[in-house]
Amino acid sequence: KNIYVFYGGKSVEHEVSLMSAKNVINSLNKKYDIYPVFIDKEGRFLSLEKVSSVEDIKDLVITSSKKPLETIVDFLKSLKDDSIMFSLVHGSMGEDGTLQGFFDSLNLPYVGSSLKASAITFDKITTNEVLTSMGFEKAKFLAVLKSNIEEDIDLEIKKIEEEINYPLFVKPSNAGSSVGANKAGNRDELKNSLLEAKKYDDKILVEEFIDGRELEVSVMGLDDPVAAYPGEHIVSDHVFFDYNSKYFDQTTIINPRADLDEKTEDEIRKTAVKCFKALGLTAYSRVDIFLEKTGRILINEVNTIPGMTPTSLFPKSWEKIGNIPLTEILDKLIDYSLI
Ligand code: DAL
Ligand code: MG
Repeated sequence: KNIYVFYGGKSVEHEVSLMSAKNVINSLNKKYDIYPVFIDKEGRFLSLEKVSSVEDIKDLVITSSKKPLETIVDFLKSLKDDSIMFSLVHGSMGEDGTLQGFFDSLNLPYVGSSLKASAITFDKITTNEVLTSMGFEKAKFLAVLKSNIEEDIDLEIKKIEEEINYPLFVKPSNAGSSVGANKAGNRDELKNSLLEAKKYDDKILVEEFIDGRELEVSVMGLDDPVAAYPGEHIVSDHVFFDYNSKYFDQTTIINPRADLDEKTEDEIRKTAVKCFKALGLTAYSRVDIFLEKTGRILINEVNTIPGMTPTSLFPKSWEKIGNIPLTEILDKLIDYSLI
């Protein structure tokens, strides 16, 4: 079997994708032939030669000194039979259904969720609407349009303040890894956060702050998905689990099995599986959950291409539950793409 690993991409999570791809390519079963396909920040597809040694993946970025072998047209011509597409492009033009639609139209099997499920889940406001209508608990939220902010930001702030108390979160509706997301404790901070978030998207999610813990649940499977134990990141000096603490802060503690009583742990795992099914997801995802101090379990957000970097929770969480190494997890994900 040939596995084409797509990574990079046009989104703000380009660098995260490089880290995910490196980790995945390193761990993929040696029985596969691996072809990296790099998407640069301009969106050009540049594919590399088959990976034959660890040396090949030291530098996954194609630089001018390392000439790409093919363009997208040549790439399509060169596609081998019995190939599976594995996209690790986080963020827009990758996690939002775009690539999935491209694969669909070419009849190419791929790892992960469909175009529709990806598109719904990548948009935080849409996800919230879908989940709320299905009875899932969500933090109180509002959708704000960039165009309305540009027209009259003070009016938008007034509307927000009428509905949601400080502190609150402001996030671009379509973005990942907390890029453009901020916590606001007062009107000035809210204003700045709205101005920041609108750089990344036309729609902005404003959400109530939940006093509690942030847990992450890895879910895998097709018709009968299973959830790993909820994991937890303990962030030391930051306001919240932001981009820096996600990937670069050495003091961030990753606990692949959060300290929870059995009943709560069970309930959280069940909620994550229900959420996976409700959104129509395939193969894998990471469901991020809030456990409020009151004991209430709320969905924070769902990632259809969860981070697969060495510090990400998805690859780590399966070790706790059945000592499943990443190589085996990837085998499973690839098997799910065939059905
Ligand atoms: N969006 C990043 C990759 C994550 O949620 O893991
Ligand atoms: Mg995310």
